[in-house]
Amino acid sequence: MRGLSLLLLGLCAATAFAAPQDSDSGKGRGGGDGNGGDADDQPSPSGAAGATSTATPASNSTSSNSALLGMKGDTVCTQYLCVGALVNGSTVQYTLQSLGVAKLGWMAMGFGQTMANSPMVIMWPNSDGSITLSQRQAPAEVMPTLVSSPPRVATLETSLSSLSGNNPKMVYNIPANSDVSQGIIWAFSDTNPGSSAQDAQLVQHLNSGPTKLNLGNTLAANSRDPTNPISTLSGSTSPPPTDSGSSSIPLLPYQKLIVAHAILCVIGFLFILPLGALVARYLRTFSPVWFKGHHALQLFISLPIIVPGVALGIAAVHKAGAKHLSDDHMKWGIAIFVLYFVQLVLGEFIHLVKPRSWTVDKRRPPQNYFHAVLGLLIIALSFYQVRTGFRTEWPQQTGRGSVGNGANIVWYIWVVAIPVIYAAGLLFLPRQYKQESMSRNKGNPQESSDSEEMTARYRDSPDRH
Ligand SMILES: *[C@@H]1O[C@H](CO)[C@@H](O)[C@H](O)[C@H]1NC(C)=O
Ligand SMILES: *[C@@H]1O[C@H](CO)[C@@H](O)[C@H](O)[C@H]1NC(C)=O
Repeated sequence: MRGLSLLLLGLCAATAFAAPQDSDSGKGRGGGDGNGGDADDQPSPSGAAGATSTATPASNSTSSNSALLGMKGDTVCTQYLCVGALVNGSTVQYTLQSLGVAKLGWMAMGFGQTMANSPMVIMWPNSDGSITLSQRQAPAEVMPTLVSSPPRVATLETSLSSLSGNNPKMVYNIPANSDVSQGIIWAFSDTNPGSSAQDAQLVQHLNSGPTKLNLGNTLAANSRDPTNPISTLSGSTSPPPTDSGSSSIPLLPYQKLIVAHAILCVIGFLFILPLGALVARYLRTFSPVWFKGHHALQLFISLPIIVPGVALGIAAVHKAGAKHLSDDHMKWGIAIFVLYFVQLVLGEFIHLVKPRSWTVDKRRPPQNYFHAVLGLLIIALSFYQVRTGFRTEWPQQTGRGSVGNGANIVWYIWVVAIPVIYAAGLLFLPRQYKQESMSRNKGNPQESSDSEEMTARYRDSPDRH
């Protein structure tokens, strides 16, 4: 059992950690598709198109920009946008450029690796062609609010910005801090705030995530142009490289909690609980000790795995500064957790309180059937819950992209295997009913399928006879 757990643990961990690479290659391709053959002077199909731009048209993205050769700077491209940083003396010029895979609503970057407590620079185009730059901060995963006098003031570079074409870009300057390897967080939304006010209400971003810039990097001809990230300094518009950022960035403390939560809950809900159900289904017609195995698995083994597993999930939400019960995964998680306890109590009740109809007449009371059905329901919900966990919750809460296909394959195998094995166990039902009917006819409880448990009850409480 311990060997199996370790194996599973390794498997889960490997899948979880291998994940971001898969998603990153996806991002790279998405980015590449987004900027192929764009013509800068064509009107943008995006929301920014309404802007009769006062920002200057984009510099010719196929022309080279050798003036920057030898300067320090770096560019990173993510799912929706590229961020270019050009170090110029004591200021750094940042260019946020859309890859054109989604309509531009607003783009943002923050100095830090989490949305909470990172100073952010958010920019969006307005209908009059101007651009609003808003410096904000959030105490948690909530809408960041305006910081009116930030320690480092960002200055919008309207003349360097360009809202036309498929790859609109917005540029700002900010005094350099001491960062060389600079952790940043990016965000992209397809919904324009609809107001030029710096404190305008923002609509939730499409996606966001942590990544990194190396401000110590010396720009060469094959470097991406930090002032026009969709092309290189030599003028090539090859697809942007994949975001190596998030895969090389170690998991943040709250993300480690999510991984631990996932591992424990997968073991508890998708291995221990189904195993306990299969023990009940298969062994009852063969050995009276089935109940001991079922009881041990569902209570003594699953409880110390599931309780910390769920607690780690809640702790991760707390640590991220996010809102509790703010999405379906969190709500279902608590619902399943409650059902699990109802099931434990019901199991104990069935074990401890035997109606006479069962002990003497050998007719199975309704709660026994309900116990089986509720158990299967909990396992089914757990399959759904684990899936939303790695498909939706992980990318949403971490911005690290979806979990690799390995987890998907394991999930599919498991979601087929468990019901098939269980259904095969139903073939023992005739044998079980025959045994029960025989014991009913003989009136001899020792012959019952749960005879071991029965006799124990009889010994303990002869008054029940
Ligand atoms: C863009 O650059 C290419 C090659 O450098 C050149 O042929 C073309 O005329 C330029 N287009 C504009 C609008 O400057
Ligand atoms: C660097 O900054 C100076 C002004 O501070 C500006 O004139 C110059 O164009 C900048 N260089 C680049 C490459 O942007």
